[in-house]
Amino acid sequence: MSARSSRDRLTPPLRGLPPFVRHFVVAAAGVAIGGFLFAWSGLFNVAASRGHFAAVELALSFIMRNSVETHALAVPAPPPLDNPDLTILGAGYFQRGCAPCHGAPGQQPNAASRAMLPTPPDVTDTSTRWSDRELFFIVKHGIKYTGMPAWTSQDRDDEVWALVAFLKQLPDLDARRYETLALGADPDPLRDTIIAGCAACHGDADRAPRSRLVPVLHGQPAAFLQSALQAYANGIRHSGIMQPIATDLSDRAIASVAAYYARLAPPSRPAPSASVESAERGRRLVAEGRPADAIPPCASCHGGNALETFPRLAGQNAAYMAARLRLLKNGIDANSDAAAVMTPIARALSDRDIEDASAYYSALAPARWRP
Ligand code: HEC
Ligand code: HEC
Ligand code: HEC
Repeated sequence: MSARSSRDRLTPPLRGLPPFVRHFVVAAAGVAIGGFLFAWSGLFNVAASRGHFAAVELALSFIMRNSVETHALAVPAPPPLDNPDLTILGAGYFQRGCAPCHGAPGQQPNAASRAMLPTPPDVTDTSTRWSDRELFFIVKHGIKYTGMPAWTSQDRDDEVWALVAFLKQLPDLDARRYETLALGADPDPLRDTIIAGCAACHGDADRAPRSRLVPVLHGQPAAFLQSALQAYANGIRHSGIMQPIATDLSDRAIASVAAYYARLAPPSRPAPSASVESAERGRRLVAEGRPADAIPPCASCHGGNALETFPRLAGQNAAYMAARLRLLKNGIDANSDAAAVMTPIARALSDRDIEDASAYYSALAPARWRP
């Protein structure tokens, strides 16, 4: 009788539940209220200077390892990673985008990042602890609550793989070999820092880009270079490599680096290797287009006397052009006016057209653009 009346006094959502469920609900509510009161009291110390308790530290790294291992199962198969074009590009980005936090062979991380909690770990031998897919997951998505950032452009997996390719080489690099890979041979420490930063990847008056996945900027119209940099800075052209670099430049710096590269003569570089047939098919496509598939002649927009805001392609790296055409074909940069001109054309190109036109253009002597 008394048991019955105490049940009747229960609030409607708990009435009729088995006793152990009722106890569980009451305990959970107690924990939630206690947790709220603790948070409200301000007794928890958020100071990064204090570190975590050892047990919390252990729990966090246990959670992180298992989360990465599980989520990495959904990462697609990597492209071949022993490709020097990928490794050099990854090294060039690592030097600006990762070394300030993680350090690099012969370089300390910056002092502020050493005071972060958790402190960014030394990643020299991280590739011995994580698989290729796990590294990809970490670099693409970052790690919540730790300061490890996600990749700026979530639709550029190709760029994330460049970082993974580099991390795999890192255990074998001493300070000197690291510097050569990231900055090129004999970088001049007293050079203007902005141009020196670009030159590590794009080359300069004496040097071509060292990775064929990086575009040649030499002799491009300044107006095109400037509008490409503005598009990265405004987030309408997607590249996790170039967006952070372009947002660091003021409008004046953009105008002057664009003018610097526009003045440079085409760099000398090894002759590209493409089959004669492929280059001949490319030549026809460039000169005549293919009216049956609504493809206009490429030369009308990319030749010597096209609009100043359009890129010149003669002497451009074939691997870069083919990669960019595949991205445009997949609809990257849908919000950019410049890419909106090129996207429907890229969609009409077959994979073979892309290889052929890129092979032809890369072998063509670059005509220096003149206003
Ligand atoms: C703002 C600082 C910061 C930057 C920039 C940064 N990281 Fe990190 N990274 C961290 C922190 C902090 C951790 C530790 C996360 C943890 O303990 O769970 C971390 C963890 C990692 C790990 C896992 C290391 C291990 O062995 O467990 C890898 C790999 C990594 N970062 C690679 C990179 C790469 C590649 C870049 C550049 C694209 C980069 N990070 C940029 C702060 C940074
Ligand atoms: C870590 C290597 C790296 C560095 C450093 C770098 N770039 Fe780039 N840059 C790239 C890559 C890779 C691309 C192609 C990105 C894409 O797919 O859109 C690119 C694209 C560009 C483009 C577009 C060119 C075109 O033909 O479409 C411009 C302009 C450019 N970079 C200018 C600069 C300037 C100026 C600097 C220095 C302030 C710089 N870059 C530093 C790697 C780099
Ligand atoms: C109607 C003008 C037009 C025609 C015709 C045209 N393009 Fe383009 N193309 C552009 C514009 C504009 C861009 C710049 C897109 C951007 O900046 O995002 C571009 C970009 C490119 C790029 C990237 C270059 C770089 O440096 O980033 C390649 C490669 C390219 N086009 C190849 C071709 C090929 C191959 C053809 C012929 C099948 C062709 N284009 C026909 C206007 C055109």
